Amino acid sequence: MPLTSTREMFEMAYRGGYAVGAFNVNNMEIIQGIVEAADAERSPLILQVSAGARKYANPVYLRKLVEAAVETATIPIVLHLDHGETFEIAKSCIDGGFTSVMIDGSKHPFEENVRLTKEVVVYAHARGVPVEAELGKLAGIEDAIKSKESVFTDPDEAVEFVKRTGCDSLAVSVGTSHGAYKFKGEPTLDMERLETISKMLPGFPLVLHGASSVLPHLVEEANKYGAKLPGAKGVPEDLIRKAAAMGVCKVNVDTDLRLAMTATIRRVMAESPAEFDPRKYLGPARDAIREVVRHKIKDVMGCAGKA
Ligand code: G3H
Ligand code: 13P
Ligand code: ZN
Repeated sequence: MPLTSTREMFEMAYRGGYAVGAFNVNNMEIIQGIVEAADAERSPLILQVSAGARKYANPVYLRKLVEAAVETATIPIVLHLDHGETFEIAKSCIDGGFTSVMIDGSKHPFEENVRLTKEVVVYAHARGVPVEAELGKLAGIEDAIKSKESVFTDPDEAVEFVKRTGCDSLAVSVGTSHGAYKFKGEPTLDMERLETISKMLPGFPLVLHGASSVLPHLVEEANKYGAKLPGAKGVPEDLIRKAAAMGVCKVNVDTDLRLAMTATIRRVMAESPAEFDPRKYLGPARDAIREVVRHKIKDVMGCAGKA
């Protein structure tokens, strides 16, 4: 099956009240673990690539690895640019065969975000590629976009932004953040705000970034084998489930994959110190990623069996 677009995927997700998982990819084992899980669960899938991933792996390698995944899998797969910061990176991904791009102008003032997003939308739509945009700021660190405090998305601005830019989906800020330390106290999201935005944009797909649940058993395993991740905390999974029923059609997960990989490699290294064949720790790390993604797809996002 060739790479597909998010358009039909989101229409189905919106109608069905579920979300499609968007997982960040950086190397072969991560791609394989994610794709094996989605294939096994008969789930649509979004593989997303950040600017940092492109720098790390080389864009050609990543594209070819995703091509290999598409050739061997039997589910619809989207190749998406995550947090594109400039027109140039969005253009380069569109020209290189990505079937979806994000332009993240959230660090800019409203008018500049509108201008930049519109510029990408015009280029992308002329080539049949849908565009995700972002309004409001998530706290935490995105590759080059740093924000100490979150600025929640204003519902009126969201409506105006979507109308003026023509973007196809919108990432909103309602209390999630990137990374492993999302909450100091009780984890909560502004579900009322999410519901309001969703009601004011009927039929329009919303996106939740920073949606890892920072699975406690993975943090525990990593810490047991020498990691230092005190107080790591993520988004409770029942809130993700609720968000998926409120117009959130795409749920982004990277941190949980990083934790699965790191915890597993640490464990194997500690338990088998004489081992020096990378396949002996990267293989189990790939298996751990597969199990995390299966769990997300089946138990959290609700997209199992929707391929
Ligand atoms: O949004 C952040 C994603 O986790 C990607 O992270 O920019 O370090 O590749 P990265
Ligand atoms: P997490 O850090 O919660 O996995 O979020 C990933 C993300 O939003 C990628 O764009
Ligand atoms: Zn993000």
